[in-house]
Amino acid sequence: MLARAAPAGEPGLTDAPPPGRHTSRPLTLPGDVMRDAGRHVIDMICAHLDEGAAEPVTARLPPQTAKELRDQPVPLSPADPLQVLGELGPLLRSGNTHPDHPRFLAFVPSPGNYMGVLAAALAAGFAVPTGWSFSGPVSTAIEKTTIAWLVELLGLPPETGGLFVSGGSTATLHALTVARDTTAGSQYDRATAYCSDQTHFSVGRALHVLGISRDRVRHLPTGMDGRLDVRQVEERVRADRRAGLTPFAVIANAGTTGTGAVDPLADLSALCSRHRLWFHVDGAFGAAAAITEEGRRAVPGLPLADSLSIDPHKWLFQPAEIGCVLLRRPELLRQSFGVPHPSYLSGADGTDEDLMQYGIQQTREFRALKLWLSLKVFGARAFRDAVAAGMQLAEDVGKHIASRDDLELVTAPSLGVLTFRPIARALVPRDRLDRITDRVVGAIAERLAESGDALVMPALVADRRVLRLCTINPRADVRELEAVVDGVAALADELITDLLTEPRRTP
Ligand SMILES: Cc1ncc(COP(=O)(O)O)c(C=O)c1O
Repeated sequence: MLARAAPAGEPGLTDAPPPGRHTSRPLTLPGDVMRDAGRHVIDMICAHLDEGAAEPVTARLPPQTAKELRDQPVPLSPADPLQVLGELGPLLRSGNTHPDHPRFLAFVPSPGNYMGVLAAALAAGFAVPTGWSFSGPVSTAIEKTTIAWLVELLGLPPETGGLFVSGGSTATLHALTVARDTTAGSQYDRATAYCSDQTHFSVGRALHVLGISRDRVRHLPTGMDGRLDVRQVEERVRADRRAGLTPFAVIANAGTTGTGAVDPLADLSALCSRHRLWFHVDGAFGAAAAITEEGRRAVPGLPLADSLSIDPHKWLFQPAEIGCVLLRRPELLRQSFGVPHPSYLSGADGTDEDLMQYGIQQTREFRALKLWLSLKVFGARAFRDAVAAGMQLAEDVGKHIASRDDLELVTAPSLGVLTFRPIARALVPRDRLDRITDRVVGAIAERLAESGDALVMPALVADRRVLRLCTINPRADVRELEAVVDGVAALADELITDLLTEPRRTP
C-alpha cells in the first residue's frame, strides 16, 4: 500500500492502490503479483509469435488512439499491473506494423526469435553490468565469446574483434571514428570519404557526426547493378589529393538496402591498400549471408575489410537492439574510445577486458546475451539454414515473377532482396506507360498496406519506381509470397486499365 499522504493540491496520491497488488516498499510488487504479471507478458508474447502470422501486418488502430495515448496525463497513483498489461495488449497487437510478420517484406525485416526475447528480459532482470570486467566478468566473457563465434561463423580473420552496439548506424559511427583517427588524424578537416549513391544514409550521418562535412562525402553514381565502379573511385581519390584534400576511407556495401547489391570488395580493398585508405564495409544487413556457403560466395572479400558493420537484429534474427562493429585490429577501438581510469574507481584496476573502453557507452545493455542464448539453444546450423532459406525464397519468388508476362523482374534476387514492377501494355507512347507504371507501383504499395495482407515498399532503381521485396524472414512461406505477387499483378491490371481509360487522371 502506498502509505504516504499526498501534499495538499497533489492529485491522486491519496488514492489507495489496488488491494494486495503493491507492497509498502517503493517500486516493488509482491512475489505472486510479479509472477502473475510475468506469466501474462509471456502469454502475450507467445500468442503474438504463435498466432501473429494470421493477423494483419500493418497497424489497425484508429489514429485517434495514438492521439489519446499522447494526451495521457502522468499516472500519479498505482494501478493493477494485470489491468495495465491488459490494456497494453491490444495496442501492441494492432497499434503498430509488425516487422517480424512473415509478410513484412519492406525495409529489412526483423524476424527476431524467442530466445533473444528472453535474453533481453534476463539482461534487464538481472541488471547485468557489461562495461567493466571487475563487475561483469561473466557478461564480458560472454560478449567476447559471442564476438569470436560471430567472427568464426562469418569466416573473418581470427584476430578480428569488436563490440556489440545498438545497431548498424552506431556500428558504422564507431568504425569511421577509428578510420578518421587512424587514417586522417589531424588532417580531418580536409578529409574525404567515398561510397556509392546506394549507400545507407547512416554512413553520411556518421561522417557528419565526425565532423566530415557533407560536401566531403563522395556518393559516386552506380548503374543498374547498384555497385561502385572501382576506377571511378580511384580517379576521384586522385583528383581530391591533387586538390589538397585528405582521402581517408572507402565505405563499401555488402548488401545495399535497396537491391542487395554488393560492391566489388576485393578490388576496393586493393585500392585502399594502394592509397592507404581505411576500408569499411557496411554489412549491416547483408554480411550475415557469409555464415552460409552460398552467401559467402555472394560477399567475397568480406575478410579484407578493416572494419565491418553487421546487425544481428536484422539477418541474425535478434530482437532490436543489437548491432556489431568488427575490426581486424580491434585494439584501435580502444585507441579511439579509451579513457584514463577514473579516480572514483581507484580500488579497481582497469584491464583490457573493460568493454566500455572500446566504444562510446559506459553503461551498456547486455546485448550479447541475445545472440549467445539463441546460438546455444538453436545451434549455428539453424541460423545457417534460416539465412539460406531467406536467399532461396527470393530466388523462388523471383522465378515466379519472371514466369509472368505482366510483371518484370527489375533486379534479380541478391541477398534475399529483389525488385519488380508491372508491365503496362497499351498503344500509347513508352514514356506515358512508364509514368503510369510509376504511379501504379505507389498505389499498389498503399493498397497492400491498407489491406494489412503484406507490407511492400516502393523503391527507385535507375529512376524507375519498383516494388521491393526483402524475404529474409525464415517463417515466410513461398506460396504466400507468390500469392502476394499474384495480388500485385491483379491490382496493377485494374489500376493500369483505370488510368488508361480515364484520360483526365492520366499523368
Ligand atoms: C545497409 C544498411 N546499413 C545500415 C543500416 C542502419 O542500421 P540500424 O537501423 O540498425 O541503425 C541499415 C538499416 O536498414 C542498412 O540496411
